[in-house]
Amino acid sequence: MSPLVGKRILLVISGGIAAYKCLELIRSLRAAGASVRAVLTPAATQFVTPLSVAAITEDKVFSDLFSLTDESEMGHIRLSREADLVVVAPATADLLARMAAGMANDLALTALLATDKPILCAPAMNVRMWEHAATQANVVTLAGRGVRFVGPDVGDMACGEYGPGRMAEPDEILAAIAQHFACGQRLANRRALVTSGPTREPLDPVRFLSNRSSGRQGHAIAAALARFGARTQLVSGPTALPDPPAVQVVHVETAQQMLAACEQALPVDIAVCAAAVSDWRAAEPQPDKIKKEAGAAPEPLRLVENPDILATLSRAATRRPTLVIGFAAETSRLLDNAVEKRRRKGCDWILANDVSAATGTFGGETNEVHLISADGTELWPRMSKEAVAERLAFAIAEALEAHP
Ligand code: C5P
Repeated sequence: MSPLVGKRILLVISGGIAAYKCLELIRSLRAAGASVRAVLTPAATQFVTPLSVAAITEDKVFSDLFSLTDESEMGHIRLSREADLVVVAPATADLLARMAAGMANDLALTALLATDKPILCAPAMNVRMWEHAATQANVVTLAGRGVRFVGPDVGDMACGEYGPGRMAEPDEILAAIAQHFACGQRLANRRALVTSGPTREPLDPVRFLSNRSSGRQGHAIAAALARFGARTQLVSGPTALPDPPAVQVVHVETAQQMLAACEQALPVDIAVCAAAVSDWRAAEPQPDKIKKEAGAAPEPLRLVENPDILATLSRAATRRPTLVIGFAAETSRLLDNAVEKRRRKGCDWILANDVSAATGTFGGETNEVHLISADGTELWPRMSKEAVAERLAFAIAEALEAHP
C-alpha cells in the first residue's frame, strides 16, 4: 500500500513558471491516495489559475488572507493544522526569504508560519538567484528549523540559462513525499538520545573553556530521528541553533551536566553522542573573577578530566542503549584512530570525520564521514550535515529492524 493513502497534503504554490507542474503533482498525489488542499500566493495566480487547481484538487482553493468567505469556511490556522505535511512547490526565492524572515503577509505565509506540521520545499528559480548568498543563507536557516528540501535540479531554465534552479520534477517531489511518510514509521516506538554542541567549562564566573563545535550535525541527527518517528531527546550544549521540531531539548553547559541529563533520559534504544565534550575542566573554578595582577605571572591553570559520556553510556551495566554511536573528529590517521576509539569507548558505531582546517567541517555545512562498525568501514560521500543525519537515521532503522 502506498504510504500516501489517506494523507492530507497542504500544497502552497508560489509564483514561478514551474507552477504549471503542480497540476501534475496534484494528480499524482491524488492517484497515490492522498488528498490535496491548495493555497496560492497572489503571484501564483499569474502562472496557474485557481480554477484549474480547484478542478484537479476537487476542493476549494485558498488564496486571500482577507477573504471573509475563506476565513469563515476555514481559518488560516485550521488550514495549516489540518494537514499531515505542507509542501511548497514551487518555492520561489521570494517565498523562501519571507519564510526565513517569519513573515505573514499573505495567506500562504500565514499558514506556513502557523503550522506545526513538517514542511517540504521544492525550490525553483534562476540559477544566480539560487546561488546568491542571501538565498543560500535562507535555505540554511530554514533547514536548521527542520524544513526539508527536494531539488532544485540542474538543467535548462525558462530564462535561457543553465544550472541548478529547476524545480524537481513532480515524480521526484512525489517520491520525497512518499519517503517522508514511509520514514515516519520506521522508528516509531523507539526512544533516542542525542548529544550536540560544545560544552562550556567555567574558569570563573565570566570565563570558560570550550571549542568550535556549532552543534549542526547533532541537531540535524536529532531532527532526523524524530522525523523517523523516534521519541527523541536532545541534550545540547550552548549553540546558536533553534531547537529542532518535535524534539525534547535539555539545555546544559558543562560536561557533568550533560552526563547527568543523559543518564536521566535512560532507558533509550538509540544514543548518538555528537557533542564535542570538553575533555578537561578547571580543577577549581573560581567563585570570583580572576584578576590580572600587575607584573605578576599568571597562575597555572590546573585541569581535571571530564566524564566520558559516550564511554559511560556504552559501558553502562544496566540500561545500556541497544545502539550507541559516537563520533571521531580527527585531524590525522583518521581511520586507525577511529577504529581504536570504537574499541576503547565500547560503542557500536563510530562516525569518523576529518576536521583538519582545510576540510571546513567544523562549523561548516557539509561533512564527509566513514561509518565504522563491527562489520567494517563504509565511506559516505561528502554531503550536507542534514543528509548525513538522514542517512544515519536510515542505517539506524535498518539495524534495529534487523535485530528487533
Ligand atoms: O575521545 P574523543 O573526544 O575524540 O571522542 C569523541 C566521541 O566521544 C564523540 O562521540 C563525543 O561526543 C564523545 N565524548 C563524550 N564525552 C567526552 C568526550 C567525548 O561523550 N567527555
